[in-house]
Amino acid sequence: MLSTHDVSLIYRNGDGVTYAVKKANVNVAKGEFLGLVGPSGSGKSSLLYVMSGLKQASEGEVEFEGSSYQSMANGKLIDLRRKRYGFIFQQHFLINYLSVFENIMVGALEQNASARKRANELIAELGLEKQKNRLPWQLSIGQRQRVAIARALINEPAIVFADEPTAALDQTTGHQVVDLLAHYRGHGSIVFVTHDPEMLTQADRVIRMRDGEIVSVEKKNGTS
Ligand SMILES: Nc1ncnc2c1ncn2[C@@H]1O[C@H](COP(=O)(O)OP(=O)(O)OP(=O)(O)O)[C@@H](O)[C@H]1O
Ligand SMILES: [Mg+2]
Repeated sequence: MLSTHDVSLIYRNGDGVTYAVKKANVNVAKGEFLGLVGPSGSGKSSLLYVMSGLKQASEGEVEFEGSSYQSMANGKLIDLRRKRYGFIFQQHFLINYLSVFENIMVGALEQNASARKRANELIAELGLEKQKNRLPWQLSIGQRQRVAIARALINEPAIVFADEPTAALDQTTGHQVVDLLAHYRGHGSIVFVTHDPEMLTQADRVIRMRDGEIVSVEKKNGTS
């Protein structure tokens, strides 16, 4: 569904060049849970940014459903990101003066009855009923991250890109967040970046990175 072809992301500094990602080839299959693991600075976030079109590759191509980002007209990639992708980051980026329900609706493409219904379903699925009308600062960190998940899932994205969504959580809460995301597999694919392999026990495949390069791809659950 999504594939990268020898993609690199190069940063040019005064003293030379850094390959944050070096000639990476990744495939994301429909509905799979793909883990991306590696030490700090290994290029995980950079690869996620390039895969999701948040950053333009310096070299190589990224293709989603047969069309390459590089050949897309202006605005088409922004549209693709908005309509087909969901994003979750280490920081939740919730809006402080909006309630849980309103924060989830911020992600909705249309503010209509079906989006409101979907928001309520997600609130129930993610166990946020009691918090529905609260403001972000009235929630625990784990609850905030669940709101961020609901916001990312509201448009039923084809791919959810998650960059260290569990890094600020304790192990138990972290595992709950992974479980909730893993539950979405099948409806859409999940690309999950973490430095903690413990979080990837449910992944279908795990890609390991070091110094911007993919050093191994491990198949875990016998799918794709
Ligand atoms: N804006 C930038 N300018 C220059 N170099 C950068 C920039 N952003 C990242 N890098 C470099 O690119 C490399 C990969 O960084 P990246 O953030 O992708 O790593 P990471 O695996 O996500 O690390 P972490 O686990 O700490 O989040 C690092 O060497 C980093 O220093
Ligand atoms: Mg990172």
